[in-house]
Amino acid sequence: MSERLMGKSCVVTGAGAGIGRSVALAFAAEGARVVVNDLDGSAADAVVEEVSALGAEAVASYEAIGTVAAAEAVINTGFEAFEGVDVVVNNAGILRDRMLHNMSEDDFDRVIQVHLKGTWACGRAAVQRWRPLAKQEAERGEAPRHRKIINVTSASGLIGAVGQSNYAAAKMGIVGLTKTWAKELGRLAINVNAIAPAALTAMTEPLVQDPEAAKQRYARFALGRYGSPEEIAPGFVYLASKESDYVTGQVLCIDGGLVI
Ligand SMILES: NC(=O)c1ccc[n+]([C@@H]2O[C@H](COP(=O)([O-])OP(=O)(O)OC[C@H]3O[C@@H](n4cnc5c(N)ncnc54)[C@H](O)[C@@H]3O)[C@@H](O)[C@H]2O)c1
Repeated sequence: MSERLMGKSCVVTGAGAGIGRSVALAFAAEGARVVVNDLDGSAADAVVEEVSALGAEAVASYEAIGTVAAAEAVINTGFEAFEGVDVVVNNAGILRDRMLHNMSEDDFDRVIQVHLKGTWACGRAAVQRWRPLAKQEAERGEAPRHRKIINVTSASGLIGAVGQSNYAAAKMGIVGLTKTWAKELGRLAINVNAIAPAALTAMTEPLVQDPEAAKQRYARFALGRYGSPEEIAPGFVYLASKESDYVTGQVLCIDGGLVI
């Protein structure tokens, strides 16, 4: 086990699979304690077991991200299990792709709720707990203790994508939250950044099932391929660690040169 996140408590939403799972494991490998949130309870439990096998502590949270109540519950899980939370990764997400003319109201609302409202609510719940702590620390004259929010956006949230008006709107909104929160919260030493990943997961595998569709998709990447979730996770470790204490309001694309 390495030590870049030793002593940190981290909440990762949607951590039962894909990128979130890799982030939870990478955080644990760096010494963090992890709240593994996923609405798929058995997936969350399995990742908790994987984290424990690394010799790190983890606790599961089965909240469905997208409401204030779920956000408060997942952040509370971290405070109760680990007596604090230092890092929140807003990763949980779904797709409901349709062209604009046949996208239903439910397709639009669900994607906005999970990604945009879920990110907003989890950030809000964390900051409501962190603000009084940061103020007390300042009053005691302690050096600023950096706390971190890492949001997850997408190429769609930076340049748009056909069939994703719901998802692009949510992911562009998440960039707006990231930059706004960085400005609001910097004075409390809360760093807020976002990652725009591209990785082969359950979310993206259907897009490359057909060989011709895969060829066309890979042609959009400078590096000619999707990454693995394990290639994305180190960026999250960096943004969670002390090494990024002077970085805020940024969007880091870890996408094989998809957005350049
Ligand atoms: N894979 C990519 O190439 C890619 C590209 C850009 C952005 N992203 C973003 O990265 C994040 C992770 O995507 P992924 O590819 O790992 O997807 P994934 O489908 O492999 O994993 C998502 C996980 O989130 C969980 N989840 C879904 N809705 C939830 C909710 N409301 N509450 C709690 N858990 C929930 C799922 O059960 C699943 O375990 C998403 O925000 C996605 O939009 C992924």
